Amino acid sequence: MLKLECVRPDEKYLKRAEAAAAALFNKTGKSAELTGWLEPRPPKDELDRIKAAAARVRRECGALVVLGIGGSSLGAKAALDFLYGPRRNELDEFKIYFAGEGFSARDTEEVLRLTEGRVTALCVVSKSGSTAETSAAFSIFEAEMKRRYGERARELIFVITGDRGPLFEHALSEGCERFTVPDDTGGRYSVLTPVGLFPLACAGVDTDALLAGAEEEREAALCGKSAAVLYAASRVFEYGKGAYVELFGAFEPRFKGFTGWLEQLFAESEGKIGQGIFPAGLSYTADLHSLGQYVQQGRRMLQESLFFIPEPESGLRVPRQNESRLAGKTLHEINEAAMKATAAAHREGSVPVRIFLPEGRDEKTLGGMIWFFEFACGVSGYMQGIDPFDQPGVENYKKRMRALLGETKSLDK
Ligand code: PA5
Repeated sequence: MLKLECVRPDEKYLKRAEAAAAALFNKTGKSAELTGWLEPRPPKDELDRIKAAAARVRRECGALVVLGIGGSSLGAKAALDFLYGPRRNELDEFKIYFAGEGFSARDTEEVLRLTEGRVTALCVVSKSGSTAETSAAFSIFEAEMKRRYGERARELIFVITGDRGPLFEHALSEGCERFTVPDDTGGRYSVLTPVGLFPLACAGVDTDALLAGAEEEREAALCGKSAAVLYAASRVFEYGKGAYVELFGAFEPRFKGFTGWLEQLFAESEGKIGQGIFPAGLSYTADLHSLGQYVQQGRRMLQESLFFIPEPESGLRVPRQNESRLAGKTLHEINEAAMKATAAAHREGSVPVRIFLPEGRDEKTLGGMIWFFEFACGVSGYMQGIDPFDQPGVENYKKRMRALLGETKSLDK
């Protein structure tokens, strides 16, 4: 279970958070039909197919390219970063590249180049099957796969999409292996469905442990033992006092993808009807030397959630060569002191600070964290009278882009 150190918010907020949690579990709140993620249990036959396909990819290929945007890629990226660190591709023989997260020609060409000389599998992820970024990238990568592998390309392309739509039809007509994005789960809540599970299984992640961690946190929440309700109450309480921005400050680079995933989860869930807490991920201690000045003394509209893993990963020490106060100390000890000092300094600067202390760096811990934040996000949204499961605001730019490109039929969902 995810451990949280936090000042107890006003009782009134705790009661509201408990009522919101009950509405989620009882499926009586807004868009309850999109809360399938509450029970992270993919059908066994699909999970078995995912594992078998991933084992084949690892046997036959040297790289996987994942195409998707927003909720269709950020969860897998978060998990890979958390489990293996952001330098995974430099350290591991099996490479995983992400593309289709925009329209950058340069970025797309780089991924094409990076996979040259390696047998490469392609995994396209889109619930709607019609997102413009993903569609454009898929057309380019699929053509390249056919050029490189001919008939065999079909066996190396995996499609993760809903039960209908253009990508679904395409997978059927091409005869590619397909995994289903469940109807009852929106993109940003979908990492524990095939959306995240397939690319993660290809990376060698223990998906059973990931799901077990989520299930454990869910059971804890069901019997009132998870800190997710306290966290939601705390952030909405601080928001009510003018803390409109929540900083996610992590003391390990492995959280980079995770805080990116949190940004999307909270921004797309809460940023509606002129409301919501703006989420921003920070890398500490590096960002203490850039954004830290603002956090300490800038406009007082901030609240902060810190992430620190108490269990040391290594005993690496600063050598005892001099009289420096760091000499002889492990980097972990120094990092812990930095985290405690940051919390104390920011509190002194009137920033409400809470501290998350994950138990480990493994799949089970990660699965628990994913479920914890999805649940806390749903609770926070309901507390604010917001529908945390829709995203009507992202349509505006898409409509304008279609008009600029002179599209008559739908370029996107
Ligand atoms: O969370 C969401 O719903 C969005 O971020 C979607 O995941 C994103 O827009 C991609 O959509 P799709 O999976 O339909 O391509």
